[in-house]
Amino acid sequence: MPWSSDLSVHHEKLDRQHADLFRLLEQAAAVFEGGGKAALVQAVDAFVHAMLEHTATEEALMEESLFPERGRHRAAHEVFLADLQQLSAELQQNGPTPLVGDWLRLRVPEWLRFHVAVNDANLGAHLAQRPASGRGAPRPDARKLPS
Ligand SMILES: [Fe+2]
Repeated sequence: MPWSSDLSVHHEKLDRQHADLFRLLEQAAAVFEGGGKAALVQAVDAFVHAMLEHTATEEALMEESLFPERGRHRAAHEVFLADLQQLSAELQQNGPTPLVGDWLRLRVPEWLRFHVAVNDANLGAHLAQRPASGRGAPRPDARKLPS
């Protein structure tokens, strides 16, 4: 299933990365149906690479903006990345098994949709409310600091 605007987190860069992730995942699932192991390894690698870049982007935004849920959010990324590592290992060792197929068609897209709709939507709302400090508008709470 492709990314659609109902999954928007109202942050241009994150939305763009999410759309790319869904596209790369769909490509990998399509290669599973019709391609060989080498092509699938390449497609899965492209997805994993984009996922690493994306989680790093989110984690930097969370730190910059002091997102209160950043610890839990980062932990969710780590669990997912570990899962992806298992998928890669299974693929490397055993080729495009039914387990790899389930992962690409069900498990990974379901996780991604859930994570974007719940965790990333919260992050997007936080970022919209409170732009990163030192870039552009002052933080809304800056005035409350004792002088
Ligand atoms: Fe996230």
